[in-house]
Formats: sequence, structure tokens, C-alpha cells
Amino acid sequence: MKSHLDRLRDLAEREQRAEAGGGAERVAKQHAAGKLTARERVELLLDPGSFVELDKFVTHRCVDFEMDQQKFLGDGVVTGFGTVGGRTVYLFSQDFTVFGGSLSGAHASKICKVMDLALKAGAPVIGLNDSGGARIQEGVESLGGYAEIFWRNTQASGVIPQISVILGPCAGGAVYSPAITDFIFMAESNSYMFVTGPDVIKTVTHEEVSKEALGGAETHAEKSGVCHFVLPSEKACLQAVRKLVGFLPSNNLDEAPGGSGLDPIDRPCLKIADILPDSANKPYDMRGVIEDVVDHGEFMEVHAGYARNIIVGFARLGGRSVGIIGNQPAHLAGCLDIDASLKGARFVRFCDAFNIPLVTFVDVPGFLPGTAQEYAGIIKHGAKLLYAYSEATVPKLTVITRKAYGGAYDVMASKHIRADFNFAYPTAEIAVMGPEGAINILYRKEIQAAEKAGRLAEERARLVDLYRNTFANPYKAAELGYVDEVIVPEQTRRILIQSLKGIQGKRERGPARKHGNIPL
Ligand code: HXC
Repeated sequence: MKSHLDRLRDLAEREQRAEAGGGAERVAKQHAAGKLTARERVELLLDPGSFVELDKFVTHRCVDFEMDQQKFLGDGVVTGFGTVGGRTVYLFSQDFTVFGGSLSGAHASKICKVMDLALKAGAPVIGLNDSGGARIQEGVESLGGYAEIFWRNTQASGVIPQISVILGPCAGGAVYSPAITDFIFMAESNSYMFVTGPDVIKTVTHEEVSKEALGGAETHAEKSGVCHFVLPSEKACLQAVRKLVGFLPSNNLDEAPGGSGLDPIDRPCLKIADILPDSANKPYDMRGVIEDVVDHGEFMEVHAGYARNIIVGFARLGGRSVGIIGNQPAHLAGCLDIDASLKGARFVRFCDAFNIPLVTFVDVPGFLPGTAQEYAGIIKHGAKLLYAYSEATVPKLTVITRKAYGGAYDVMASKHIRADFNFAYPTAEIAVMGPEGAINILYRKEIQAAEKAGRLAEERARLVDLYRNTFANPYKAAELGYVDEVIVPEQTRRILIQSLKGIQGKRERGPARKHGNIPL
């Protein structure tokens, strides 16, 4: 009979085997490729010493292709829970050194177990993805495993934050789990996501494309918008995940953790006056306005490389987490287009699902004109942003810094779609359209006459002035109560924080229904 000590030795030996993953040679290969191992990543993600591992000795059940002779304890994924900033998170970290991190039935069951526990505990779930996809030897069992994960991703959506970190290949249907989660992080090198890889594409469409160009971090951060954050290294990625978690509540019934509250509430925003140009047509960087207003100037931008004409991200105001949305006049004049609408809508819905108040900075000349936009469906995509803002029941605060024209005025958290407090700077211009377009319609005859008389430029300038003085200011909207107050930019921070406090008890419910039908 084995002694107690023997049993402890046996356990230690098994643990050692599990922790060795696919063995020293494959670990060396992983390091040589510039990648960390699954366990090294867990160490970097979690607070030191907080990791509790589950299912360390699970193995696959496959017997085909002589797989019964190739078993690795843990079966290619490290799962469990720990803390980030002292708060519980559940996680899985795929181990590329074991069958290329490929997903077997057992591997999928381990992931499903932590997802179920995360949902039960009301804690975020973080997936570190590094996998060759479906375990080819297991066939449909692996496909079933993926679908079990996708289903759980959908059930957990809007209940607990779900974060995906891509630190290796993520191909085929495997991409759809991260795609359902709330945020995707990628490291600059070694991270790829695609539904069909370069070889298949070459066979089917005869296009030649590299892995990087097809599905690398830059592609997904700037072109497709699939990825929300790109960081230069794995370590930086995992640090950024920790930072993001700090802005989020653990679940949809919880409050986000508070900040230090050390930045004075009544700190004047002295930079905004210098940032806002005198000319209505000059670009400026809305990020500067946001950073001047929020606690300690700390703004964690989401989707920074995609649809740069709109800015979204997290910050704190008076210590409370808020979601910030801002038009960006420095890019495409801040017009709303398809990509900006999708980016904004997804962010607004995330914040609403997790009780994070929305603060919107508006400077928008309208929707981007053009056949490309119309043919690609700006009508249905623009409607997503409108829908998202309209259905959001979290506190909604709006500051119009300059232009709020046309339909875009309505969309960008206007009073009419139930923003709680709407403010405007004296520089705000709230009208159906900009002066140049408006005078062409209102004063066609006068303009034609002036052209014949050779004084077109002076006449246009006079008419633009006339229009601006009548409509291009915040006072018509203020008269109607569509703007609650015209404010001095310097006081933006104090007013927003006080407004947030004033509306923090907000409880709003829409009509009973199964779910709405957002124009997808
Ligand atoms: C089983 C796999 C595997 C897989 C890799 N391996 N992918 N084992 N199933 N899907 C194993 C390899 O045999 C190898 O084992 C080890 O992992 C490392 O793989 P390498 O090829 O040596 O690594 P590398 O050169 O870095 O290439 C990585 C790779 C490549 C690009 C991921 O392995 C590859 O193309 N794999 C297949 C990818 C794929 O087509 N997957 C199915 C996608 S479809 P040893 O023993 O030598 O270390 C899919 C459907 C999901 O996933 C559907 C969901 C609905």
C-alpha cells in the first residue's frame, strides 16, 4: 500500500507533468517564436499568487489516429480563476505546445466549465487564445465543443464581461467565440484571425495574401474593426486587459469599481478654449477635450485605429466609470459613416448592458455623403447607432462642442432620444444643415443674381453670416429646452460630475417584450 508521502509524490509528479505542457522542446519552440507559454501568460494576467487551477489532469478521450498513446495532462488548455486588482475573474489559456492548442471535446469541456462558473459567480471571463483550431483527430466532437462555447458566449453576453486575447493563430470557426465576446485584444506580432487562411483563399479566389495582411493585428484594428486593442507585446496586452477590467463591473448587476476621486470635481478645464478653433471648419482633436474633462486626464480608448471619425472609450468622472463617445473633427470632419456607426453602436450597447453611464461629446456635420456609403447600407448601419442610443437606459449626458447638424444631431444622444442632460458650448451650431448647403437652397435666386452681377463671394459670405446668426448657435435649442444649459467650456467637468450625481438613481424600463429588433 502506498504511504501518504508516496501519494504526495505521485501528485507532485502529475502536477509537474501537467505543467510541462507539450514538453521542453515544444516550449523552447514557443519561446523561439517570441511567444509565452499558457502558464506564463496566466501569471502575467492575474494578481501574483491568486491563480486557482481547475481540471489540471483532464485528458482527451480520442482513440483514433493512435491518439490514445498521446495524452497530455490538461489537454492543451489551462483553466481556472484568480483575481485582477483584487476582483475575481475566470479564465482559460490555450497551450500551443499541446497539439497546437487545438480544441478537443475535453479541452472544450474545460472551457465550458469555467464559463459556467463565471456566469454563476457573476465574474468576467477572459480567454487567452493560441490554437490551431478544431482538433483534427476528433472530428465532429471538436466542432460540437466549439458550438457549446459559442452558445455559452451568447448566454453570458450582457451578463458578465467577456474578453478575448489573441496570442497566436485563431482560425476557421474558432474566430466566432472571440467575435461574440465584448472585447478582442491582439499582440502586434504572432496574432492572427481569419475564417479561411491564405492557402484556401488562393485556391478559391486566386488572391495571394500573407497571414499578416489577411488577419494580423493591424488589419483587424484598422480595416475590419474585429479587434479593439493592439499592443506591441504579449506582456503589454495582458497589462492592458488588467487596466480594462478595472473600468468594468463584474456583472450586469454590479457597480464598476470606483476611482481614487482625487482629481477635484471643480477643476476648471483650461485647455478646451485653446483646443476649439475660432473657425467652424477647422479640425481639432476631440481627444484633447475628453482628456481635459475626465479624472486625471486618463482615457482608455477602445477601437482607436478603426473608424477614427468617432472616439469611444472608458474614463472616470468624479471616480465613477463612464463610457465616452465623441465625434472626431480631426478625421473625416467627424462625419458619421458606416464604420463609425457600428463602432459607436457596439460601444453604447456594451455600456448600457453593464450600467456604465454614457457621456457624449458632439461635433458632427452629418452623415458622410456618397454612393459608396449608400450602397453599403448607411441607412441600416446608421440606424444601429440611433437604436443603440435610444434603447440605452443608463444615465446619458451630452455636450455639443460645435456642430450638431441634421439627423446626426438626433442620433448623437439628443434630448429627443432620451438623453438626461444636454449641454452646449456657446460655439455650438445646431441646425438642419451647415450654412453653405443651407443658403444654396434657401437663397438660390439671390445667389444666381449675385453671380450674374459678379459679386458672388460677398453675397455668399453675407448669407452665410445671416444663416449662422439665426440658426448656427445653441440658443434656438436652448429656447426649446432641447439643450438644458449653455455652458462655459471651463466648467464642463464640474457640470458633468454634478449631473452624473443628479441622475445616478435613474431607473428606466421599456415596454415588456422578448427583445427588440435592432437593424442588423
Ligand atoms: C491537431 C494540430 C492542429 C489541429 C496544429 N496541430 N493544429 N493538431 N489539430 N487543428 C499540431 C501539429 O500537428 C503540431 O504537432 C503542433 O500542433 C504544432 O503545429 P505546427 O504546424 O508545427 O505549428 P506551426 O508551424 O506554428 O503552424 C501552426 C498552424 C498549423 C498554422 C496553426 O499547425 C495549422 O495550419 N494547423 C491546422 C489549422 C487548421 O486548419 N485548423 C482547423 C481549422 S477549422 P506536433 O506533435 O508536431 O507538435 C476549425 C473549425 C472550427 O478550426 C469550427 C468551429 C465551428
